[in-house]
Amino acid sequence: MGQRKLLRVLDGETVFPPPIWLMRQAGRYLPEYRETRARAGGFLDLCYNPDFATEVTLQPIRRFGFDAAILFSDILVIPDALHRGVRFEAGEGPRMEPIRPAEIQDLDPSDADTHLAPVIATVARLRAELPEETTLIGFCGAPWTVATYMIAGRGTPDQAPARLFGYRNPEEMRALLFLLAEMSADYLVRQLQAGADCVQIFDSWSGVLDEASFEAYAVAPVARIVEKVRAAVPGAKIIGFPKGAGALLSTYRQKTGVDALGLDWGVPLSFARELQAQGAVQGNLDPLRLIAGGQALEEGVRAILDGLGQGPLVFNLGHGITPDAPIAHVEALLRLVRGG
Ligand code: CP3
Repeated sequence: MGQRKLLRVLDGETVFPPPIWLMRQAGRYLPEYRETRARAGGFLDLCYNPDFATEVTLQPIRRFGFDAAILFSDILVIPDALHRGVRFEAGEGPRMEPIRPAEIQDLDPSDADTHLAPVIATVARLRAELPEETTLIGFCGAPWTVATYMIAGRGTPDQAPARLFGYRNPEEMRALLFLLAEMSADYLVRQLQAGADCVQIFDSWSGVLDEASFEAYAVAPVARIVEKVRAAVPGAKIIGFPKGAGALLSTYRQKTGVDALGLDWGVPLSFARELQAQGAVQGNLDPLRLIAGGQALEEGVRAILDGLGQGPLVFNLGHGITPDAPIAHVEALLRLVRGG
């Protein structure tokens, strides 16, 4: 296990060419994903069916031979386990019942273990079916990002409803984030015990928080998750992805204790190199360079390999791959990275 490339990098080793995987690598840009998704029915039916979820997780591994597979599920299975009425309507993104401050004390996590059991079953199936050398990544959403959906009831451009909720109801906000942190830690522990090699915590919307809110809502709950996961699984390897955190990335790593930092494409490579002196980094190609292909793709890959290839690096995009990504460009990306 120790020799899986991505785990060596999380341990601080430099591996060149670097291991590569892509956030959202199982998804709508693949015709085989669209086919399985149509057979599964709804998106959540896909997440909770171990046969279908295993199949779509393996699809990008079979097609491209990425160094890591990421469990197929969604960050919103946690609010779903809290009975928030989560649904995914075609072409519209996620919806759920917006939560009011007074409802937070009544949230009941007692069904979560049962509710999430099919996802854990998928993890076990995946470890048995994946090639020996492929790292299996489990994941959860960070409490702040999950809360932005629970509060607004949907995705929002600037997460204003959740930010206002936090300023107006700081106690309830903290209670919500710490409930989510406890549940997420238990969920990650079960993934690791079922066979995940490491886990990633997605904080897609941490970039909208001011410094004090970042500390309270992005750092503190994730530090709690890391502490609780490592108490149950000593030495658990954890990647934090606080998208948009910018200058706060360094303190995020120090205070949360994550092993690796996921970087978005706005992080300058010179700053990324300083962060790399403290431990592994992951990223950070602009997903639009992958759409454009050609010279834009080549230059973007070259800059990252030149800038970060001499330290512990996991090659990835700076955010998820989008449905319009051409398969030929993903193949070109792999050739560019693996050609060194
Ligand atoms: O990376 C992977 O391949 C693993 C699977 C995965 C999905 N979502 C599958 C998915 C992971 C790790 C996620 C994380 C996730 N989900 C995040 C954090 C990462 C990020 O991208 O910022 C967030 C914010 C969500 C919430 C979510 N799920 C949204 C906003 C949407 C709709 C947006 C869209 O692209 O339609 C989803 C749906 C979703 N999750 C899809 C996939 C493949 C598309 C649904 C479909 O097939 O119709």
